[in-house]
Amino acid sequence: MENLLVKPIHQGFGAEVEGVDFSQPVSAKVVEQLKQIQNEYAFTIYRSTQLDNDRHVAFASQLGRQLEKNPFYAISVRLGTPYLFDVGNIEPDGSLVEKDSRRWQHALGNALWHTDSSYSSPRAKYSLLCCYDGARPGIANTVFADTRNAYEDLDAETKAFIEDLVVEHDLWHSRKIASPVMYANPTSEEKAAKPPSCHKLVQRGPDGRKTLYIAAHAKRVVGMSEEAGAKLIGDLLAHSTKPKYTVEVQWRNKGDMIWWDNRISMHRATPFAGDFARDVRRATVVDDGPNSFGVTEHIAVRNAQIGNISLSPVRQQQQLVYSTSTTA
Ligand SMILES: [Fe+2]
Repeated sequence: MENLLVKPIHQGFGAEVEGVDFSQPVSAKVVEQLKQIQNEYAFTIYRSTQLDNDRHVAFASQLGRQLEKNPFYAISVRLGTPYLFDVGNIEPDGSLVEKDSRRWQHALGNALWHTDSSYSSPRAKYSLLCCYDGARPGIANTVFADTRNAYEDLDAETKAFIEDLVVEHDLWHSRKIASPVMYANPTSEEKAAKPPSCHKLVQRGPDGRKTLYIAAHAKRVVGMSEEAGAKLIGDLLAHSTKPKYTVEVQWRNKGDMIWWDNRISMHRATPFAGDFARDVRRATVVDDGPNSFGVTEHIAVRNAQIGNISLSPVRQQQQLVYSTSTTA
């Protein structure tokens, strides 16, 4: 790893990386080295990068074919680019996001364990979150969970049971958990902007290891009753986020950036009162791998039948509806 210093954090999960000069375009050779490090550690930290919008977007663009756009909150007005998610607490006019406003309530879901854009098809591969201003150690930390080691530690019976299961991910499910009153009924515009999608529960990451693809967005397990699916999702979330699988990262300096792989980790934000301006922006790289589009529901139902999971009458009925769907 020429000129790069890698400092592992916790049992092969997470690393701080030094030696990348973000003041100029990062060479293709270094990008490849960083991807390899990323594949091994799932998330990497770069201190005091001093990235600006253009270099942030340019670096993220080197990591995949497409960057995700966020349709919410007029972000292009404040940031001047549709390719950065404005995930701080500053409104386009410079004021702080008002407590209990719809945007405030929407952000509460970020404190739940999740992986970005698992409700999307295509889903997200990488997220690159950079603190442009307002870094304060101990406030609004980001915590990561290792879904590869968590999978590995499951017993054989559980692994066999979940191997072919498919989960529906829905952004509005996690918003409702975090904000049950305001997001009890998302608007039709919100639902149209972020529809749900289905993904395999057990997948292989870029390093070939199996991982659990779950999140607070996980609404139900296809082919299982609502209660049984919710229990399974809850059990797996609880298992994957035990302290031995998690690492909490502090934002120390202006320009600190964390790059994580959404396919092989989960994350959440620690609580933030929102009482000072915190300018945090995220570039999101769309997954261009074989699992990017997930699975259509008729495939998911067939897998459930093969696995001898009994379908509820509603699911059996819907199977007919979806039987003419095409695989994405
Ligand atoms: Fe997130």
